[in-house]
Amino acid sequence: MKWNQFVCDDAFNIFPKIDDQSVDLTFTSLPDISQGPWGKDIKEYQAFQNKSCDEMARITKPKGFVVISQTDRKINGEILPNHITYYQAMIRNGFKLKDYKIMVRNNPVDKRDMYYFNYQHTLVFTKEGTIKRGGDWLKNIMVYETQRLGNVKGPFNLYVWNEQFIRLILDYPSKENDKVIDPFAGSGVVPYIAKKMKRQYFGIELDKEVYDKSLFNRVAPFEQFMGV
Ligand SMILES: C[S@@+](CC[C@H](N)C(=O)[O-])C[C@H]1O[C@@H](n2cnc3c(N)ncnc32)[C@H](O)[C@@H]1O
Repeated sequence: MKWNQFVCDDAFNIFPKIDDQSVDLTFTSLPDISQGPWGKDIKEYQAFQNKSCDEMARITKPKGFVVISQTDRKINGEILPNHITYYQAMIRNGFKLKDYKIMVRNNPVDKRDMYYFNYQHTLVFTKEGTIKRGGDWLKNIMVYETQRLGNVKGPFNLYVWNEQFIRLILDYPSKENDKVIDPFAGSGVVPYIAKKMKRQYFGIELDKEVYDKSLFNRVAPFEQFMGV
């Protein structure tokens, strides 16, 4: 597979093209249950989460890392504990939970949300990888501004991860020239920063409208969009 691309496709069309144990860092936020065909069918959604974890575990090197950062949410009058699903799926695939952090999305519009929490569980899985402990990696609770990807119509809001958060996750569990993939890349911010940090990158986004408004395809420079 040719690296250094951000493509508009279904991740499950691309996964079969990626060799077993060939990726250094798989870093993603899977689609929320509202960002797909699942409606309120939790069982179907969890089957998708499990299938995704199986593929992410397969393509990642034993010394590499799978980092999943996503919020739990409320649905059908109960909590849908996504981080527990990911934990169980990755353990089933022979990974261990190496680190666990909370990323607070410090966005004022989120403060009274009925369905979402304003923090994401950031789960760092590996089989045999090590991370140098020190610096910002020692923070267990990280607070960042997030922004919405502007003008995307449709059933969901897309919150774009903060550059500092992505830099931190890329900096510690990966190094220059490593292969970094985000199979559910949304705005494309992970491959975008991975490129800036001299990693080989690959991003996949299914939704054409999101993809067209992604950071790779924007006229305005990324820095202007992020307000930095
Ligand atoms: C939680 S968002 C990612 C947001 C991203 N981390 C950011 O900061 O911009 C998940 C994305 O996965 C996309 N998606 C859903 N199903 C997909 C699939 N089968 N293959 C690729 N992308 C998919 C959704 O359209 C959505 O944009």
